[in-house]
Amino acid sequence: MQENFGEQMAAILAPYKGERGAIIPILQKVQETFGYLPQEATALAARFLRISHSEVYGVASFYAQFRFSRPGDHGVKICLGTACHVKGAELLMDSFKRELGLDSREDVTPDYKFGVESVACFGSCALAPVVVVDDKVYGRVSTSKVKNILKEFE
Ligand code: FES
Repeated sequence: MQENFGEQMAAILAPYKGERGAIIPILQKVQETFGYLPQEATALAARFLRISHSEVYGVASFYAQFRFSRPGDHGVKICLGTACHVKGAELLMDSFKRELGLDSREDVTPDYKFGVESVACFGSCALAPVVVVDDKVYGRVSTSKVKNILKEFE
């Protein structure tokens, strides 16, 4: 957890003083700040809102937008939509994971440098298979390009 975690949380919570229904905007702000919902943050939010931690957790887990584990610093999003699937996106996923030393269940490297996730469709099907790293779009990606793509972010 960052050194100034307490200060960051205080800044997030302050505008919502006395607003018991502010749980969603608070969680959104927490995720915007940290990239996910750290347990320490949801516990603080619960205390601030005077509700139980499990209630906060229950609300957060209802919405797909919230994540509970730390993402990688660089997000590798691999499209597994139909057009990309047909063009070998599964092989690309395997290749990125192999290159990053991740097994099939892992999606973040131990040093949190890279995170890998699948996406349903980027809407750029003509460029299939498509991979997006952070905000950079790569089209017609072949497994031979995987190493070089990752190198750009090291
Ligand atoms: S299916 Fe991959 S971009 Fe549309």
